[in-house]
Amino acid sequence: MKLPEVALRPEFLITRASHVVVHVADLEASRAFWVDTMGYIPSREESDTLYLRGLGETAHHSLVLRAAGEIGCARVGFRVAMDEDLDYLAEHLTAGGHPAEWVDVPYQGRTLHTRDASGAPLEFCASMDVAERFSERYNQYRGAAVQRFDHVQLLTDDVPLNASFYGSMGFRLTEYVEDDDTGSMLFAFMQRKGNPHDVAIVSGDGPRLHHFGVLVPELAGLFRAADVAASNGFGANVEYGPERHFGPSNAPFLYLRDPDGHRVELFTDHYQSMDLEVEPVRWLKSSLSLSGTGGWGTTPPASWQEDATAFVADAVADVSTTAAEPQTAALLRADDERYAALRSGNPAALARVLDDGYVHIHSSGRTEAKESFVDSIRSGRVSYREVRVGNRSAWADGSVGSIRGDVVLELEIQGEARTLDLAFLAVWHEVDGRWVLREWASVPVRRPDSTVR
Ligand SMILES: [Fe+2]
Repeated sequence: MKLPEVALRPEFLITRASHVVVHVADLEASRAFWVDTMGYIPSREESDTLYLRGLGETAHHSLVLRAAGEIGCARVGFRVAMDEDLDYLAEHLTAGGHPAEWVDVPYQGRTLHTRDASGAPLEFCASMDVAERFSERYNQYRGAAVQRFDHVQLLTDDVPLNASFYGSMGFRLTEYVEDDDTGSMLFAFMQRKGNPHDVAIVSGDGPRLHHFGVLVPELAGLFRAADVAASNGFGANVEYGPERHFGPSNAPFLYLRDPDGHRVELFTDHYQSMDLEVEPVRWLKSSLSLSGTGGWGTTPPASWQEDATAFVADAVADVSTTAAEPQTAALLRADDERYAALRSGNPAALARVLDDGYVHIHSSGRTEAKESFVDSIRSGRVSYREVRVGNRSAWADGSVGSIRGDVVLELEIQGEARTLDLAFLAVWHEVDGRWVLREWASVPVRRPDSTVR
């Protein structure tokens, strides 16, 4: 069987699976389950939406519950490292024929919507509002005391095809399950954050969300979760476990269903997986509890094998006719060329990326025109020893664009070394199909927690 190809150095950095958005019938009933029983912390409670996070999370939300007519999953969320990764990701998706749509989502930074190869609606963002981490606030621990989001398991009609989709974005295969008779791939476990999976792709009637997995602090938490569920009237919602995955991930687990049937997996831990020389682990279906032969000899209940959360129709449809924003990716590439020209001290390359009317506003307030600025590089009066850029955000509309961000410059000015930590705003315009920099202005900042790399 051919394993999915994995891009080991994609132009963008996806860091982890981070959140899900589900539609529910009754927010009060959902609150009793997710807050009072699972132990989530409400970050924000609105009339039709609850934004929840685990005790160990600082991201504003890892579970969004929205009261809506159609019950289902609206989005599966992932994080990228920096805002500019979204632009490169959008270009990658468009090149592969996948939808890409920019949307505004409350409490999140700029957000990119797409869907995977089986049609599951996904979203990517680089940041969220930051909330207090409650790890040490033990007086706030309730029920399962959910700590943080870990992964999703998606049902898909074509596992190899969807595994290739995630592989093209840098998701690495850690384990897979083969059908004994046909040799086809039934499960593909793929990761970005260095443990067995951020996304498990499973053969079945898709696209559907089978479950999302969250960490609880200790083994006893699985039993306490089941006990508190029973005391809170959710005893019948305990579906499968406590038990252990003798097979992929090896994790102790408990599956529960919320009042709308959305499934959560509580588990305590699984192993580290990031070294590239380690081959993906191959399992045969016949060796696993799915076949009644693995582990403790038990099999999952029929509901676990058959039921899953459908994706709501509008979430699937709302990305079907959208276009990506390739302009900003081209703009960022032009910005990269400028930094490369500064680092290498190449006046010709620098002149090419600067507009003839270029104005450079130094952080001191002094302004300098193109000819003088380029000449300072050509003559060696100024050398850019290092340029480290971070947190860039690009915008473009027609032939005009801007980039703002952080930059650390290590300069040598007439033989004297200087380091500048700056926030900048750059104004670009497109001339004959090529982006050129029109104005650049910066201010000095003090940033003990600088995002600049
Ligand atoms: Fe899982």
